Amino acid sequence: METIIWSGSLSVGVKEMDRQHQKLIGMINRLIEEQHVLTEPATIAELLTEMTDYAQEHFRAEEYLMAEYGYERLDSQKHSHAAFLDKTLEFMDASVGPNILSKALLEYLSSWLTGHILHEDMQYKEFFAKKGIA
Ligand SMILES: [Fe+2]
Repeated sequence: METIIWSGSLSVGVKEMDRQHQKLIGMINRLIEEQHVLTEPATIAELLTEMTDYAQEHFRAEEYLMAEYGYERLDSQKHSHAAFLDKTLEFMDASVGPNILSKALLEYLSSWLTGHILHEDMQYKEFFAKKGIA
């Protein structure tokens, strides 16, 4: 399975959000890269929890920025963010032992994040650019 490669096409134009997206991508990439060497369920659970904690922190920061500037798609973003966290936690609950880092989970994390940045977050690029936020 391929890792996610960050490039300008994933840039949402807001430096801090790009930085947070890159960090989140890095955390997911680490899970993808080390999926075969990570055998200790406790370590895997710890890395997944770190990732979901950071995702939550990022979503809060992003939603705060959207609320501050009256971004019209805030509710739909909140809904997507919550759905991602629910689904990820569901995967983590359902997975036990060596299957905790399932291919399905890694594929979900990778495709959700890139899809979300490219389709939903990209919609705020122009909005924040017009507000002078970079
Ligand atoms: Fe985001």
